[in-house]
Amino acid sequence: MNTPDTSALAVAIMAAGKGTRMKSETTPKVLHTLAGRSMVLHVLHAAAALEPASFQLIVGHGGDKVREHVSQLAPAAIAERLNWVEQTEQLGTGHAVQQVLPHLADFGGHLVVLNGDVPLLSASTLQDLTRRHLEGQHAATLLTTRLSNPSGYGRILKDNAGRLIGIREDKECTPAELAIDEVNSGIYLFAWPKLAELLPQLNNHNAKGEYYLTDILGMLVDRGLPVGVHCMSDHREVLGINSRKELADVEAILQERLRHHWMEAGVTLRAPETITIGCEVELASDVEILPGTHLQGRTRVGSHSRIGPHSQLNDAVVGEHCEISFSVLQEVEVGHHVSVGPYAHLRPGTVVEAEAKIGNFVELKNTHLGRASKAGHLSYLGDAEIGSDCNIGAGTITCNYDGAQKHRTEIGDDVFVGSHSTLVAPVRLAQGAYTGAGSVITEDLPAGSLGLGRARQTTKPGWAESKRPRK
Ligand code: UD1
Ligand code: MG
Repeated sequence: MNTPDTSALAVAIMAAGKGTRMKSETTPKVLHTLAGRSMVLHVLHAAAALEPASFQLIVGHGGDKVREHVSQLAPAAIAERLNWVEQTEQLGTGHAVQQVLPHLADFGGHLVVLNGDVPLLSASTLQDLTRRHLEGQHAATLLTTRLSNPSGYGRILKDNAGRLIGIREDKECTPAELAIDEVNSGIYLFAWPKLAELLPQLNNHNAKGEYYLTDILGMLVDRGLPVGVHCMSDHREVLGINSRKELADVEAILQERLRHHWMEAGVTLRAPETITIGCEVELASDVEILPGTHLQGRTRVGSHSRIGPHSQLNDAVVGEHCEISFSVLQEVEVGHHVSVGPYAHLRPGTVVEAEAKIGNFVELKNTHLGRASKAGHLSYLGDAEIGSDCNIGAGTITCNYDGAQKHRTEIGDDVFVGSHSTLVAPVRLAQGAYTGAGSVITEDLPAGSLGLGRARQTTKPGWAESKRPRK
């Protein structure tokens, strides 16, 4: 048998529906996310493994939002082969694919049709389905599965010999047909010229008054054309999402997969069911994640680092041998051997160099903390450049905002900032400078100097005795 030629593949993704059952005022269904990635991007990522000649992305409801989202986030390999197909009225899945007709007028290959709301489909299942379709020289190949609760799905009708008759939508089924547990996944391959010929013949004489793509399968069978049915034993990959409950259920499956993947890769997860991991996250081996921790965005963690318990890292890059506990890190970079927390908040633009220590109730924003510097307790360090081997005393505050503008605080290497210092920016503390505890520093400190800015203490001997009530 010839090796299938996948260069003659195009992919159509149906993503125009409103998703009425999601009950969202603002978000089209396919932009709801699982593990930090939208449904439509999950589908595009899986389809990319087929290396198709083009992706026909069918948009309609909330189309502008879908376009903007995909244009911003799709990898280049997908974006450069993406063609937008407008379905202005959502008259059904058959109508959706009809909109592709003018875009693939001269196409003689095969069309992979994917539902934008079936996000767990794997690349390997798609490759397998494509191989079967091409090798079997089918007019169409359909991916099905068996569900203990098939309600809502199209049912697969077969004759006594097990040959496909067609697909019956849930709403059209007789009670006997409702009991059929083999369902349509909404994932198909079609020989495009055949599909293109039949699409204009669809009608909407059915319970929903919609043009059902599923009717095409029966039409192909009626014409005696070969239609393959591939039933997946693991139904989880082809679960569709139509409601918030289904979104949560499918995300739980995805989280389980991601946790399994990282444990296989040598990451220890303590109480794994309490940990969530985004699908763009990368973890080195021998990382340990403690309970209640959420790793999101493009977070990366180096080997032997221990994260958690109860920490949230979003777009955070953490080096090796770090300890981060009970803390929130957003868009930050942390070097090797750094300790953060408990209860620290590292905000966007923060870079923490190797061996630094950030203790409890310390907030850093847009701040560079140098190698082996320490900010141990109760501090706010914003818009600051801090050198190496500095000690930032408990309760230090950078006053970076004057009500209109932000200003920078610059601290050289080996600076000792006394406890409860208030650094009024813009201000510079040159190398080796000290500030006295409780100082309000408004002027630059030269190298090696001591800055004191506080009221001198007065002591009144015997004062307490003089205040004591007389008997
Ligand atoms: C569909 C199938 C059903 C299958 C199920 C699997 C049909 C008629 N039914 O039902 O057999 O078991 O998927 O999940 O195809 N869409 C458009 N334009 C439209 C209508 C829908 O782009 O006019 C898109 C939706 O955004 C969605 C996908 O097509 O991504 C499927 O539509 P949906 O309404 O969810 O179909 P189901 O009722 O789930
Ligand atoms: Mg659906």
